[in-house]
Amino acid sequence: MKPIGPLMWEHRLIEKMLRLFEGEVRIINESRKINTVFIDQAVDFIKTYADRTHHGKEEDILFHDLRKKKLSPEHARIMDELMEDHRYARKTVGELVAAKEKYLKGKHSAEEIVRLMSELARFYPIHIEKEDKHFFFPCMDYFSKEEQDKMLAEYYEFDRKMIHDKYEKVVTQMEAQSL
Ligand SMILES: [Fe+2]
Ligand SMILES: [Fe+2]
Repeated sequence: MKPIGPLMWEHRLIEKMLRLFEGEVRIINESRKINTVFIDQAVDFIKTYADRTHHGKEEDILFHDLRKKKLSPEHARIMDELMEDHRYARKTVGELVAAKEKYLKGKHSAEEIVRLMSELARFYPIHIEKEDKHFFFPCMDYFSKEEQDKMLAEYYEFDRKMIHDKYEKVVTQMEAQSL
């Protein structure tokens, strides 16, 4: 298997979550009420799965290894754009968390939350399409079979560690809150 396989499967799950975002936005628009449990789960998914696990493998392994190659100007340009997209997604999710906190304190209406969720649902499919259709496949040509196998092994190791990192952070956070 090529190392872009797992990344493309992950894209399919991210797309499913984005469809849930769209459904939730419709519900909020009708009810004017926020389901904070949905927002918390959605934010956790985007932060832990889409960003740390998925973007993490892209940035720390695939893009990292691509930087050692002599990329065509077009591929170098797309990779910069993809990195910028990741930064933008991180910032937008941070804003969504802040908007939810403000909503809970009664300082904000649901509008900002709807705007940010709609923005993520709009933005991610464009980013995913860039990777799936214009970047991943041609990029594999820069790597030998051995390099691709090594990358795949690094992905598995990255994923293996993630669950432990995630729950260590959860416990650390809960400990801090209990002080
Ligand atoms: Fe990406
Ligand atoms: Fe991706």
